Amino acid sequence: MVQPKSAFWQNVVDAAQQHPQVDGLEKLPFFTLAPMEAVTDTVFRRVVAKAAAPDAFYTEFTNARSISHPKAKFTVQGRLSFDPSEQIPVAQLWGDRPIDFELGVADVKNRGFEAVDINMGCPDSTVIKNGAGSGLIKEPDKAAELIAAAKTGGLPISVKTRLGFNKLDTFREWIPFLLRQDIQVLTIHLRTRKEMSKVPAHFELIDEILQMRDEIAPDTLIQINGDIKDRAQGLAIAKEHPGLDGIMIGRGIFESPFAFEDTATEHTLDDSLDLLRYQLDLHDEFEAEFGPTNFQKLKRFFKIYVRGFSYASDLRVALMETKTTDEVRNILDEFDQQWAAKQAELAEQHQND
Ligand SMILES: Cc1cc2nc3c(=O)[nH]c(=O)nc-3n(C[C@H](O)[C@H](O)[C@H](O)COP(=O)(O)O)c2cc1C
Repeated sequence: MVQPKSAFWQNVVDAAQQHPQVDGLEKLPFFTLAPMEAVTDTVFRRVVAKAAAPDAFYTEFTNARSISHPKAKFTVQGRLSFDPSEQIPVAQLWGDRPIDFELGVADVKNRGFEAVDINMGCPDSTVIKNGAGSGLIKEPDKAAELIAAAKTGGLPISVKTRLGFNKLDTFREWIPFLLRQDIQVLTIHLRTRKEMSKVPAHFELIDEILQMRDEIAPDTLIQINGDIKDRAQGLAIAKEHPGLDGIMIGRGIFESPFAFEDTATEHTLDDSLDLLRYQLDLHDEFEAEFGPTNFQKLKRFFKIYVRGFSYASDLRVALMETKTTDEVRNILDEFDQQWAAKQAELAEQHQND
């Protein structure tokens, strides 16, 4: 059994064992919410924590250079803020200069973070042009330097990457290379950069990857990512691939904010709209502390909560017209009243049937 190299990751592994036991699994994998730019900020992470918390969260990626840059410091403050209910997320950083990782890790440590993840998978062309993200797959020596520099900051370092840049076969060199860098966790989005998210994740390669880990770095935790919607699906995959340590879920959270719950249950419309209201309150709190944010960003969340019931699309359309959180609240209140009246009308009709 893999022995995590740090107290932080040991805690995550231990937290995973607190969930109900599952037949056929000697050790439960840990579940994490994927880092997602403009999505998994402290506000949304707290909403997910309230709905059904994963065993660990990640921040959205932060440019390692911006952390100590005088002009960017303020925006970074909001990006790197977190609340105790998130059990201290892993801070994900991206960049291409060792010095930025050296200083960046030391800085996030001062902010209270206990683990750092390096982004080596982002397919975005601007990030790649900067010599970072998935571009590092083509520059393994630089990747190794960045990891070494990050380690000097005094926190456990992990890496999140893809299988290759253009060719799938690259994983046979790239993954062993990363495993030789003595990292705590290796998270693999099971696609190449070229494949973006257009083809199904390569679950067929999991066992080969686990074998590489067992041979090269038996104490590095392996977490897989890509197309896993919820805990039930993650557990089914873990059963098929003994030795898998972690499961990371990204877009599954858009299909259900309850993706991490132990037993999938039917949630009422009220449950969903309560989460939306909670997000609005946290959003206002965040703005009070860190200044205005782009309201458009909030709109992408509406469809997470408003789906799967009659009138959902009407409500969504109305919400998309809003410009403030109070306008959203007013529409939700009006909707509640209309919904209650409709239910009463239906109940009456039913009695008269
Ligand atoms: C909107 C969005 C933003 C993302 N931002 C990041 C990021 O900041 N860092 C990162 O490592 N991956 C990022 N990703 C990739 C996800 O973490 C994950 O690897 C990918 O969505 C595949 O997993 P999934 O199928 O569970 O969504 C992002 C994905 C999406 C959809």
